[in-house]
Amino acid sequence: MTSPLFRPLEAGELSLPHRVLMAPLTRNRAGEGNVPGEMNATYYRQRASAGLIVTEASQVAPKGQGYPRTPGIHSDEQVDGWKLVTNAVHEADGRIVLQLWHVGRISHSSYHGGEKPVAPSAIAAEGETLTANMEMKPFETPHALETDEVADVVEQYRRGAERALEAGFDGVEIHGANGYLIDQFLRSGSNKRTDRYGGSLENRLRFLQEVVDAVVDVWGAERVGLRLSPLSGFNSMSDDTPVETFTAASRVADEAGLAYLHLVEPSDPKPPVTGDGEVREVFSAIRDVFAGVLIANGNYDSETASHAVESGYADAVTFGRSFLANPDLPRRLREGLPVNVPDESTFYNGGAEGYTDYPTWDEIQNGEAEIETIDQLAELAARG
Ligand SMILES: Cc1cc2nc3c(=O)[nH]c(=O)nc-3n(C[C@H](O)[C@H](O)[C@H](O)COP(=O)(O)O)c2cc1C
Repeated sequence: MTSPLFRPLEAGELSLPHRVLMAPLTRNRAGEGNVPGEMNATYYRQRASAGLIVTEASQVAPKGQGYPRTPGIHSDEQVDGWKLVTNAVHEADGRIVLQLWHVGRISHSSYHGGEKPVAPSAIAAEGETLTANMEMKPFETPHALETDEVADVVEQYRRGAERALEAGFDGVEIHGANGYLIDQFLRSGSNKRTDRYGGSLENRLRFLQEVVDAVVDVWGAERVGLRLSPLSGFNSMSDDTPVETFTAASRVADEAGLAYLHLVEPSDPKPPVTGDGEVREVFSAIRDVFAGVLIANGNYDSETASHAVESGYADAVTFGRSFLANPDLPRRLREGLPVNVPDESTFYNGGAEGYTDYPTWDEIQNGEAEIETIDQLAELAARG
């Protein structure tokens, strides 16, 4: 019997040949000026057999950057760089959407000529971050955006969406997850504003609503997705009423008619599909309000992903670390083949190593693979 993962799926105007999708993965390997180049195009081309590629997050404006060498979508050079990527993926018969990003307070003044990062409220995230000078420094208290400055940031998303269209993507995903700017507006722990962008839930949703409207204006709803991470505490996030907040945010996506909603699930300690308590509550509430395609993410393997789709819990699954390490992941899952093990030490830095040198199954069979990978495979086999 064909696994439910390998049934085609229509997500708005995106026709996906199967449901094994690639999750967005920041890899910090853009060139000078945060411009994508040939090496990035090779990496994405290698993964074109994904049902859909969601690119690494791409900042819509210089102030939207918070890490070294993340690719932007705010300059002509970046558009040209992304064209290398979209052409490479399309030549290999793939589909690719750009993840639109603004980090908000998860940044540092060293990226902005000494100016503070921006956020809904002047509340610093806890912990330290990597500065533009490659030092670890505590997060700074951000500048709380003035009411009229919020409109400028919405315009940056619109402009990023326009540039993504110009760069030849098949669509865009709005990054509303993981404690970055949209999430900072959504959640009560980071949004203490008293104007129309804060206070009540309705007000906390307004920034998301305006970004969705601006991006849909450019692309049409059927080529726009939204990523959310309900319950995630990453980047010092918290909310007093997470079930209400994320049900309401999902309703924004539903009412806009977005192509898909992409949920990052708390994956520890259990695979999400078997989660219970508040996890179960929030995800089933979202399933009830969002009529479109629901994409699940977080520590899935072939078995749990098949179960998620078969049971109707989700329509498709994105794979992050396993796609990073297995350029031909759909084939590996379809044929039940062993998988390469991701090397965490090269996730966020380096060049081609740990980036474009993970072998396909054919390369392993032909003896073209690195010895380390074969060792890793043996180790994996030994672990059962
Ligand atoms: C190296 C790395 C980079 C990531 N970059 C992004 C990103 O740019 N945007 C995003 O929404 N999530 C990002 N994530 C989160 C992943 O998309 C995904 O939610 C997470 O890895 C869990 O899925 P997995 O268990 O299949 O890896 C990143 C994760 C990793 C490991």
